[in-house]
Amino acid sequence: MERTLSIVKPDGVKKSLIGEVVRRFERNGLKVVGMKMIHMDKKEAEGFYAVHRGKPFFESLTDFMSSGPCVVMVLEGENAIQKTRELMGATDPAQAKEGTLRRQFATNVERNVVHGSDGPDTAAFEISYFFNALEIFEY
Ligand code: CMP
Repeated sequence: MERTLSIVKPDGVKKSLIGEVVRRFERNGLKVVGMKMIHMDKKEAEGFYAVHRGKPFFESLTDFMSSGPCVVMVLEGENAIQKTRELMGATDPAQAKEGTLRRQFATNVERNVVHGSDGPDTAAFEISYFFNALEIFEY
């Protein structure tokens, strides 16, 4: 069993896609073991995306991610990291496979509806950024 962090980004929340995103994950064997709605401030968004500091899209990305509420969730399942990434599709919706969340719903590479951790180390960091042990459940 593996855990990953996913976020319905501000564009996804505004487009009423919370349910659609969660439904895709659940239907594909991922269990939601933690979930909440948050509104990051700029500093919190910068901390979350710290690995991207210095990249040309960092300012705009962190402005966008702090522009409205997000839904953050911990997903658990076999190969949860890879499975989540497959269901999301490529970062750039133009490159994403048919039927993926980003291909269907994203506007562009920044407003791409959903985030998922890209590896085990990132998943551990990202889960602990938003959730403490009491906010993750076994059922
Ligand atoms: P995400 O999976 O949340 O991780 C980093 C985010 O940076 C990515 O999705 C994109 O939304 C955003 N981003 C914006 N521009 C770019 C870019 N040129 N390349 C990669 N990621 C980008």
